[in-house]
Amino acid sequence: MYFPEYRMRRFRRTENLRRMIRETVLTVDQLVYPLFVMPGKGVKNPVRSMPDVYQFSLDQLLEELKSVVQLRIPGIILFGLPHEKNERGSEAHSQNGVVQEAIRAIKDKYPDLVVITDVCLCEYTSHGHCGILRGHEVDNDATLDVLAKVAVSHARAGADIVAPSDMMDGRVGVIRHALDENGFDQVAILAYSAKYCSAFYGPFRDAADSAPQFGDRRSYQMDMANTDEALREVDLDIEEGADMVMVKPALAYLDVIYRVKAEFERPVAAYNVSGEYSMIKAASAQGWLDEKKVMMETLIAIKRAGADLILTYFAKDAAKLLSS
Ligand code: PBG
Repeated sequence: MYFPEYRMRRFRRTENLRRMIRETVLTVDQLVYPLFVMPGKGVKNPVRSMPDVYQFSLDQLLEELKSVVQLRIPGIILFGLPHEKNERGSEAHSQNGVVQEAIRAIKDKYPDLVVITDVCLCEYTSHGHCGILRGHEVDNDATLDVLAKVAVSHARAGADIVAPSDMMDGRVGVIRHALDENGFDQVAILAYSAKYCSAFYGPFRDAADSAPQFGDRRSYQMDMANTDEALREVDLDIEEGADMVMVKPALAYLDVIYRVKAEFERPVAAYNVSGEYSMIKAASAQGWLDEKKVMMETLIAIKRAGADLILTYFAKDAAKLLSS
């Protein structure tokens, strides 16, 4: 049947009709809130390039979590700003590191909140690269050992999920092995599998103080032009033991999310990264975009593309809208 017998607009007439045939539904269950934790007490530093995002000392972080839990956001991902950086990023696996202390305190107060940790060295190394250097190169195999230590230290502190974001080859397998050997066979791995070398991470590097001091991350993060390569990365990470895989960034890579979800029967996460957040915030602050509407359109697009889980700085705002 075709026009004029058949009319697509019949189901667009009222909100209830639209609700009945809506295909993609975003719920708070799919949101993960990223948080930055730093040493000290009573600190809540606004991040210049990310309105409403802060670097928290642990006491303030616990305050912040009240509203996160109240909004029924199921999980958070933690990033740490260490006391001290060095060549090898050793604070990343210190049992008294800022993230390890935060995990213990969070698990003590909010045992049900899912705690995910970012496993990487860039916030902890003096040079700002995601691994151990040999000359000006990041040495893949020398980095694996350190990443495994970081993951185990997070698991020991009580993390539910560790999320390696360094993009070294072989890291998922090495981390899985180290977790199991240390008795953490219940700790899951969310692999940042298809992590692109993206200019959209700019604001995050303000928030996490993790900009590389020389060069860039092109020798380890993926080239933005590739998708077959993303599928290969995902395949390898699953073979090595990833329980969930991630595509990052999200908005400029919806095709990658779609292909990964179509090809693999695994939970897929997408990271709605800092630059995607700041663009919407900046344009809305000028009055050029409707912030809440564009936020929802973005998150639903990511879900529609195939993401099961969305890591987003909008998690609280979205949760508020979804519960109203
Ligand atoms: C650490 C890491 C980065 C992000 C998440 N984990 C930065 C980077 O790779 O340079 C970016 C997150 C964001 O932009 O919101 N490697």
